[in-house]
Amino acid sequence: MDNPRCDKTEAWAALRGHYEAHGRDLDLRDAFARDPGRFAAFGVDAPEIYADLSKNLVDTATVHFLLDLARECQVEKHRDAMFAGAPINHTEGRAVLHTALRAPKGQGLHSDEVHDVLDAMLTYVETVRDTAASGIRHVVNIGIGGSDLGPQMVVPALDAFTHPGLTFHFVANVDGHDITPVLRGLKPSETLFIIASKTFTTQETMANAMAARAWFTANGGTDTNKHFVATTTNVKAAAEFGISTTFGFWDWVGGRYSLWSAIGLPIALAVGADNFRALLAGAHAMDRHFATAPLAKNLPVLLGLVDVWYRNFHGFTSRSVAPYHQGLRRLPAYLQQLEMESNGKRVDLDGVSLPFGTSPVVWGEPGTNGQHAYFQMLHQGTDVIPVEFILVKRPTHALADLHTKLLANGLAQSQALMQGKTTAQALTEKAPTASKDLDAQTIAKHRTFPGNRPSTTLLLEQLTPRSLGALIALYEHRVFTSGALWGINSFDQWGVELGKALCNDLLPRLASGDTAGLDASTAGLLTKLRA
Ligand code: F6P
Repeated sequence: MDNPRCDKTEAWAALRGHYEAHGRDLDLRDAFARDPGRFAAFGVDAPEIYADLSKNLVDTATVHFLLDLARECQVEKHRDAMFAGAPINHTEGRAVLHTALRAPKGQGLHSDEVHDVLDAMLTYVETVRDTAASGIRHVVNIGIGGSDLGPQMVVPALDAFTHPGLTFHFVANVDGHDITPVLRGLKPSETLFIIASKTFTTQETMANAMAARAWFTANGGTDTNKHFVATTTNVKAAAEFGISTTFGFWDWVGGRYSLWSAIGLPIALAVGADNFRALLAGAHAMDRHFATAPLAKNLPVLLGLVDVWYRNFHGFTSRSVAPYHQGLRRLPAYLQQLEMESNGKRVDLDGVSLPFGTSPVVWGEPGTNGQHAYFQMLHQGTDVIPVEFILVKRPTHALADLHTKLLANGLAQSQALMQGKTTAQALTEKAPTASKDLDAQTIAKHRTFPGNRPSTTLLLEQLTPRSLGALIALYEHRVFTSGALWGINSFDQWGVELGKALCNDLLPRLASGDTAGLDASTAGLLTKLRA
C-alpha cells in the first residue's frame, strides 16, 4: 500500500490526544463567545458554494491536526493519481476518471472519445426535444443504482430549466409495482425508453427493459429503433437486445459517478445541450478547486477531514442531509449510494481488516419536511448526528414569501441545534400545552435541549445546472478524501455480489420448491411464499 493509512500516522496520535484533552468537550457556544472571528475563520469559498463550517465541533488546533493528517496520508498524491488516470480502483484494475467527462475539450484524458460521445448525444437530444417533430412526450429511464439515482436526482432539481413538453419517469426496481403505474396512460408513439446500464447485464434493468419492450409491441408500437435507446459500456449486449441507438461510456467511469456520461441522457433531454454543458462546467470548476486549492482552503478536503473527525474520534455513526430545496428531494438517496457504496468498506487496500469505522450512514429529507418528522431526534435524541443544511439564496419561482420562510426555517434549525435550551431557560417560559398534572421542573426537563449539536451549512446563490454540477462534484471529492484517509478502495463494490449470486440460486428454487441445502429460515420462508 502506497499511502500511509490514517491510523498509522503521527497526526492520528496527535488528534487522539487533542480529542481527549479538548476535542470531546468543545462547546460551540463558548467557542463563538471566545472568538468573534469564528464565522469568518471557518468559512470556505469554493466554486458556486460558500460553506459555513463554524458550527462544527472543531477549533483551529483540530483543523491544524486534520490537515497534518491529510498531508501524512498523502491525499494530494492520491488525488493527483486519480486525475492522472492511475488504476486507483486496484481490485478491478481500473482508472477512476469521471473528472475526464467534464473537462473541456482537449483538456482531460480520453478527451476525443469523451467529446465525440457528448457531441453526438447532445445532437440527438435536440432532435428529441423538438417535440413537434419527434412526437415524444414521455421519457422513461430504465436503470438502477448509478444508472438511475443521478438522473433521478438531477432532473427534478433542474425543474425550472426543463423542457415543458416532456415528462420524465424513472423505473428501477424489479418490482412490477414500479413500472406498471408508469406505463399506465403512456402511448408507444409518444414514449422514449432509455435502457441505462453500465454492464447491460443487471437483472432488474434487463427484466424491466423486456417488460417495456413487450408493452411497446403489445400496444401497437412499431419503430423500436426510434423509441428505445441504450446508454452503456456494453454496446454489443445492447445491440443483441435489439437497440440500435446507443451512447457508450467506459469502464473507467464508476456507476455511481456516471451521471456525467451517457447515463446523463435523461438530464440532457430535460434541460437541453447548453444546460447539460453548464452542469459539466460546474463540476469541472469544482474539480479544479479540488486539484489546486491549498488543503486549508480546499472544501472537499475539509469536509472529508471533518467526516473522519466525527466518525473516528467523536464516534458519530450517521450524518443527516437536509436540502432546503424541494428540487433536491432525491439528493439524500443519491448520496447514500455515492458515500455508502464507495466507503462502506471494512478492509484497507491490502485487504487488512480495519480497526476503525468507515462510511457513516447518510440519510435525510428536504427541509422543512424533515423538521416535522425526525428533527425531534436530532434535537433531543440520545445520539449526536451532524446535520448538513443546503440553503439556496434565490429561488427559481416567484413566491418570495414562501422562500423567506424556507430560509428562516433552515437557519433556525442550525441555530437551535447549536444553542439548545437549558432547563433554567425552559422554566422561565410558558408551556400552554403542557399537562397541569406535572410539576414545572419535570416539564422543563422535557423541554430542555442539550445543544452543541454540530452542523455544516452549504450556501448556493441559486440552484442552476452549473451550481448543481459543482455541488455534486463537491460530494464526490469529499467521499474521495475520506476514503483516501481511511486507506480503502472507494471505487469497487464487492459487497453487492453475494446477494446477486444467492438470488440466482433461489430463483429456480422459488419455481421448483427445492429447499435442499438451505438454512431453515430461508427454506421455511420459501415454502410459505409458494404455498
Ligand atoms: O449492484 C450495484 C451496482 O453495480 C452499482 O454499483 C451500479 O450503479 C448498479 O449496480 C447498476 O449497474 P449497471 O449500470 O451495470 O446496470
